[in-house]
Amino acid sequence: MKLFYAAASPFVRKCLVSAHELGLRERIELVPAAPHPVNRDRTVVASNPLGKIPTLITGEGAVLYDSRVICEYLDALAGGRLIPAHGPARWRVLVDQSLADGVMDAAVLVRYESAVRPENLRWNDWISGQLEKVTCGLAEFERGARGWTERVDAGTVAVGCALGYLDFRFASLGWREKCPDTARWFERFAKRESMVATRPPAG
Ligand code: BEZ
Repeated sequence: MKLFYAAASPFVRKCLVSAHELGLRERIELVPAAPHPVNRDRTVVASNPLGKIPTLITGEGAVLYDSRVICEYLDALAGGRLIPAHGPARWRVLVDQSLADGVMDAAVLVRYESAVRPENLRWNDWISGQLEKVTCGLAEFERGARGWTERVDAGTVAVGCALGYLDFRFASLGWREKCPDTARWFERFAKRESMVATRPPAG
């Protein structure tokens, strides 16, 4: 399998953490990509019209995106260990993943707005609106965090990657102060081999 990839992307990281947890990491070749909202990476566009990463090419040549589809594919390949097949646990895990994906989405948009968009075109109210999504998402994490101790699944993997991205790009947010249970959970979760091996680069 080939994965179009950038080490800084929390969505790529979610797929790679899943692959590690499922014992599939060695079967994935990483293909560096340069995602950008304006200058689209034509190598990725040739496989995925949206030009987004992560994009996975399976061993059979199928093109899979987005990160949720890729994680589900990897999970199915490994026999279904990160996404429960049915029942309330399935919906809990999938909603936790959606919430964490939403936090990542909002944070990445703020990152693009402040690092990519020309300064004279920036809109501060829009940035505040995205950051409020992050803050509300964190508050929801905090309501659930005490129940995560024993969980390693698509939901907690996504939460771990969302928090890792906030630490990476938004260290000044200081989310731990208002989310002590989440912080305690993340302290342990971030030490998992899968998380350590996929840490974003400094800078
Ligand atoms: C980043 O540099 O923050 C980033 C890179 C790729 C995708 C998303 C975010």
